[in-house]
Amino acid sequence: MSTATLEKKQLEQLAECICVCVKCPLHTSRTVAVPGDGSTSSKFMIIGEGPGRDEDRTGHPFVGASGKYLDHVLEGSGMDRSDFFITNIVKCRPPNNRVPKAIEILTCTSNYLFKQIELVDPKMIILLGGTAVKKVLGFKSVEEARGRVVESNGRKYMATYHPASRFYREDLAERIEKDFGFIRSELKKCD
Ligand code: URA
Repeated sequence: MSTATLEKKQLEQLAECICVCVKCPLHTSRTVAVPGDGSTSSKFMIIGEGPGRDEDRTGHPFVGASGKYLDHVLEGSGMDRSDFFITNIVKCRPPNNRVPKAIEILTCTSNYLFKQIELVDPKMIILLGGTAVKKVLGFKSVEEARGRVVESNGRKYMATYHPASRFYREDLAERIEKDFGFIRSELKKCD
């Protein structure tokens, strides 16, 4: 079996494990888990916080209001969700969309997210929102990371605000759209 075929199989097996995972309390309130969309051939990766109501029902990331806005900004900057492997820090919806707890984040990233990153091996990872920025880069806030390429542990990252933040802070829309323009220009350099 070629390395590419083996990695594809491992990513699929990881998704199967995520779908039946009972390692943290979030499994008790989920409808379905949301492993992520994309494949080992995805060049780039997007990491959000965790599934919301629509994702919990469908099993796919960023398909609700935040996802529609994400599609809009991707399209506006000349990109498409099919350019990315899209996933989240936690794979099960936290009750009432609360921020995931430290133990849930630790359990989910150590068992799943970091393995997904290794298997997809993206040229650039886009972090959406504070939860992803804090966990993956160890930064205090999105502000610390946005507007530049951050290199950490041999990987390249860019960050912006979570798309949902635009719904309660109208002023962030302009910054998110500007950040996606910058992200697009950096991703072009990876081709
Ligand atoms: N918010 C996220 O962080 N991820 C999703 O998949 C949907 C909403």
